[in-house]
This record gives sequence, C-alpha cells and structure tokens, in this order.
Amino acid sequence: MSQSPIPHSAQKANIFLVAIDELLGLQAQAEDTLRSAKAQSEQDRDFTPSERQMLKKYEEGLQKTLDIIAPSGMEIKRDELILNDLHARTLFVYNWPNFTFPNWLSETVNFDAQMEISQFIYPSSNAAIMKMLRRKVAEMRSSIRMLEQRGIVRDPALEAALQDAEELRDLLARGREKLFEFGMYITIFAEDLLKLKKVQTNIESLLGGKLILTKPAMFQMEHGWISTLPLCLDELEISRNMNTSPLATSFPFSSADLTDDHGILYGINRHNDSLVIFDRFDLPNANATVFATSGAGKSFAVKLEIIRSLMFGTDVFVVDPENEYSELCKTVGGTYIPLSLQSAFRINPFDLPKAIRAEEAAPGEVLRSAAITLHGLFKLMLGTLTPSEDGVLDKAILDTYALKGITLQTENPGTLEPPVLNDLVDVLSTTQGGEHMAQTLQKFTVGSYAGLFNQLTNVELDNQMIVFQIRDLEEQLRPIAMYIVLNFLWNRIRADFKKRFLVVDEAWNLMQHEDSARFLYGLIKRARKYWLGVTTITQDVEDFVNSPYGKPIITNASLQVLLKQSPTAVDNLQKLFYLTDGEKYLLLNSSVGQGLFFAGNRHVAIQIVASPKEQAIITTKPEEIAAAATARREEEKRVKDEMKD
Ligand SMILES: Nc1ncnc2c1ncn2[C@@H]1O[C@H](COP(=O)(O)OP(=O)(O)OP(=O)(O)O)[C@@H](O)[C@H]1O
Ligand SMILES: [Mg+2]
Repeated sequence: MSQSPIPHSAQKANIFLVAIDELLGLQAQAEDTLRSAKAQSEQDRDFTPSERQMLKKYEEGLQKTLDIIAPSGMEIKRDELILNDLHARTLFVYNWPNFTFPNWLSETVNFDAQMEISQFIYPSSNAAIMKMLRRKVAEMRSSIRMLEQRGIVRDPALEAALQDAEELRDLLARGREKLFEFGMYITIFAEDLLKLKKVQTNIESLLGGKLILTKPAMFQMEHGWISTLPLCLDELEISRNMNTSPLATSFPFSSADLTDDHGILYGINRHNDSLVIFDRFDLPNANATVFATSGAGKSFAVKLEIIRSLMFGTDVFVVDPENEYSELCKTVGGTYIPLSLQSAFRINPFDLPKAIRAEEAAPGEVLRSAAITLHGLFKLMLGTLTPSEDGVLDKAILDTYALKGITLQTENPGTLEPPVLNDLVDVLSTTQGGEHMAQTLQKFTVGSYAGLFNQLTNVELDNQMIVFQIRDLEEQLRPIAMYIVLNFLWNRIRADFKKRFLVVDEAWNLMQHEDSARFLYGLIKRARKYWLGVTTITQDVEDFVNSPYGKPIITNASLQVLLKQSPTAVDNLQKLFYLTDGEKYLLLNSSVGQGLFFAGNRHVAIQIVASPKEQAIITTKPEEIAAAATARREEEKRVKDEMKD
C-alpha cells in the first residue's frame, strides 16, 4: 500500500531489492569490503583503470536476491502472464458501490487461492476538490431549477447527487474527511488456465456480491503483475476518488474471526498475513494458557501482551520464577519484589483480605476460606498428613486466629492484625497430635528457612505492574512461595475491582503438587468474577496431563497459545486440545514465536512479532541483553557528556 504518489522510477525497486538483500544477509560482507575498497579508491585514487574494471566485474559477480527470486522465464500474453509454469492474471477494480461495509475485503483475503492484492492510496488536494465541488453544486442546482421552471417532474438521481456533494463539501470543510484516490489490483495465480478461470470467477463473484466490480487488465498483464509486487509501483494507474470513511473499510488486515475493532495485537495470522487483534476480556473468561518447549517464546509472547495491555490501563501481576521479567518491569516503572531468604520483603500467609464483596464478606466466610487456603499451604509444607493430623491442623489454624481475637463471628477480620507462622507452631506444639507438624514447621520459623514466611507483610501493591521474583529460592521452596504470593495477590484482587492480568510463569512448579494445583485451579475458576485474567505458562505438558486439575485449568481458559512442541510432548498435547494431525505437525515444525492461537473455538496459526524496541526490552537472549546494556551505558555516557558541555 502506498501513502503518497510514487514516481514510476525503477530506482525505488532497486532500493527495495537492496533492502531484501540486506535482510537476507546476502553478500552484505562482500559489499562492505567492496564499499570500503571503493571509498579507499576515491580517497587516494590508487586504482588503475584495469583494476577498476576488475572491481566492476567483481561487483557484477556478486550473488543478488534478484538472481534467486527471478523466474527463469516469463511469457506475456494478452490476458495472462506465464511465470515459469505458473499462470497469473491481474484484475483491477473499476466500479465501487455507493456504500461499502467494514471488513468487505476479509472474504477475499481469506479466500483459499494464491493471490497478491495491492492497494494504492494517493492523497488529493482538498483545495482543488472543494473548488471543483462548488462548481458542480452550482451546476446541479441550476439544472434542478431549470427542470422546475419548465414544469418537468423532478429527477431523484440528480437530487441525490446534489445531496452527496453537499455532504462531502461539509465534511471536507470541517476537516473530518479527506479525499484520496484509491486503486486496487489483484493478481491471481494458478497452475493452468482452467484453474485460473475458476479462481477469477470466484473472486469476481465474491467482490461482485458487494458491487465491487473487476476486470482483467487486458494487454497490460506485465504492468498489472508489477503493480501487485511489493515494490510500490503503480503501473496501471486505475483509481477512483474516495473519502476517508469508505477508504477505511478497505483495511486489509482482517481475519474472519480474530480481528476485533479494539484490543491488542497478538501477532500475524499465518493463514492470510492479517493481524490478530482482540481483547481477552471480550471472551467468556479472560484466562489464558501458554504451552511450548523451552525457548520457544512463551514468556516472550506473554511479555509482549503485557507491554501492550499496560498501554490500555490493565494492571499486571507476575509471578516470575526465572527472573525473566525484571528488565520489562524496570522499563515500565513497575515494582519488582524479589523474595528470598536474604531479601527484606516479607509476605505473611495468614493475611486476610481487607475489604471484600458483599456475598463473601459475611462474618465467618472470609476466615473460613482463608483457613481452607492455609490448610492447602501447610499440606504443601508438611508433605503427607494422616487423617487425624489433618483434623488437628484444621483446628489449630482457627485457634491461631483466635489468639489474635479473630473468630468466625468477627466482622471485618481483615482490619485486625493477623497471626504469624510462629503462633501456629506454638499452637500445634501444645496440641496433642500436633507435635510432629510443629517440628516440621519449625524449619520455617527458627530453622534454615526462617524469616521468609513468618513475619508480617511489608509489601505494598500500588503500581500498575508488580513482579514477584522467586528465582533465588531453593527448588523445594518455590511451589510454597508461589502459593503464598498467589494467595496474597488473590486477597488484594478481591478487595477492589480493576481490570487485571495475573501471570504465573513456569506454572508446572504448582502443578506438581495436588494442593497447589487445586489452589491455582480455584483461582482461575473464580477469576472472571473479579475482572481478572490468569495466564498460566508452562513448558511441561506432562505435569498438566498427570494432574487432575490440568484439564479443568485448560477448559477454564478461553485463550490458548501453543507454540513449538517437542516430539515427546506433542502427543499428549494433541489429546489435551483435540488437535488435528495437521495442527500437530504445524506445532512440531514451528520456529520460535510461531504456533497456534485459540480464542474460544476459533483457531489460527500465528506468528508473534515484536517491534525492535519491544524486542530489546523483553528478550532473554544473553547476547541481546548484553547488547542492550552496552547501548544503555553508552547512551547514559553521552547524556552525561552533553550535560558537561
Ligand atoms: N516471537 C518472537 N520473535 C523474536 N524472537 C523471539 C520470539 N519469541 C522468542 N524469541 C526469542 O527467543 C528467546 C526465548 O524466548 P522465551 O524467553 O520466551 O522462551 P520461553 O519459551 O519462555 O522459554 P523457557 O521455558 O525456557 O522460559 C527470547 O528471548 C527471544 O530472544
Ligand atoms: Mg520463559
């Protein structure tokens, strides 16, 4: 698509090909050498004419993209072009209807045939058009008056034209609309003439149904083909005036299903190269699951979503077991909370939600649900319990709260100071049958893990993005820490209504244990009611398949992203997601950032793309991070130097 008139110069095409050459990395080095040699030659003019001749020859002998992509032969006929064995025909649009509907191009874009569509948009000068319209309006008015004077029946077509012209003048004068010239060409390809005719008929009827009429560009097939190559060369020059609104309906990036008029960009639809734009909160629930092998781009995709969602005011919480989100958090000015034995941040698992919605705020309800959550947590900390220990633990939790004056009858228990883990250990050690549990839990109060979970909370959640980093915790502490962090966030989330995402990266940590998996599932199931979308990221399909909560977590997520899979995981995944064989092979053969995107029951193959700026913020590739750090240091140094001067 072009934005401005493009001169018909082959110069442009050359620039483009050079750009492709550079993208492909072809002969870049060789050219560098040549360029420096040339520069040298201009400086000291050392080269003899014969040497210059040699250099020229050398340049001609370099491999060019053109050599690779050019067809070996081309035959130009009256109504078709034959490129190698492929037949091509270019159609141009010669009639547009008075009304176009949004997204009218989507059926054509999604039509299963090989084709190139190009659109040329040339801005027109408003001043000249206004002048012309004024004259036209005057003419039409006088025609109408003459008809009236002669007593002839009024002409509705003329009146409609006058009305249209007047409306357009108003809009142009107010600057609401602008005038453009718009041309659209479609080149279709097929293996033989018969198929070509069939595709042509199909395209013609698809567009014809909307009164967009096309014709083949007879005797101009070569020009037509060139006009649809990505060269920005309009060699047909068949355009029609159009103002902004109808022109906007020709926006070509529209998948039948996954292009919304609001939301964020998730990636490129690999079926038809259109954009996947939509809003998670429009789905029945805003939860998502992301599955892929290590390094396939799971965190990358989610970080992109985070950056783009932050711009629309969504709050984001992240549980980050691999320290992958720190750079992003720093860039967007978020709060970064490292949880480790050395860090000063503390979260008390006994916290109660401060304010909560009416139905859950009944006396006793808050405490009861907190006790259930804590029960799950302590089972995670203690390992397996006997049925009698289970009962003792349950009672001990309530007794611990009672020590602080919090009972099932207390109103607004969240406003009182909660107990800490030491209190529970005290209660357990004085309860018959609780001594063993008390001893085990002492590891967290006076033993090697002391300090982390047995103090009052000192973490505040007053930022749009908050990342909890738990990488520095020992392996076996991670599920416990994730559980505690999620519970802490869940308490805060329930306290006030806001559009939020909660990202749980490396969720297999939680899926390994039944209690933590159950907790995660409970949270996901209820998230919708609190305007929360939970994203679970995992590389381990096995853990999801083996956990009784794996499948329900997936069914409770309306959005699913599957990226590259390993051959061992793909069979499980196929069963879990009911993938077709085609989709299975697509996942096996995907490269980084490619995969399948399911929103509700709509599937597309997607390519996740980031802008260079986004890429620099979210990459986890060591070499890219190092390069970004160097660039930042240099920038800081430059700013400092400038300030000095
Ligand atoms: N869509 C993409 N476009 C370009 N580069 C990408 C894309 N996705 C991933 N990458 C590159 O691959 C690297 C690894 O991706 P990412 O960190 O998302 O892997 P991961 O799937 O989260 O792996 P792990 O499970 O090990 O955490 C990224 O840092 C980035 O450099
Ligand atoms: Mg990751």
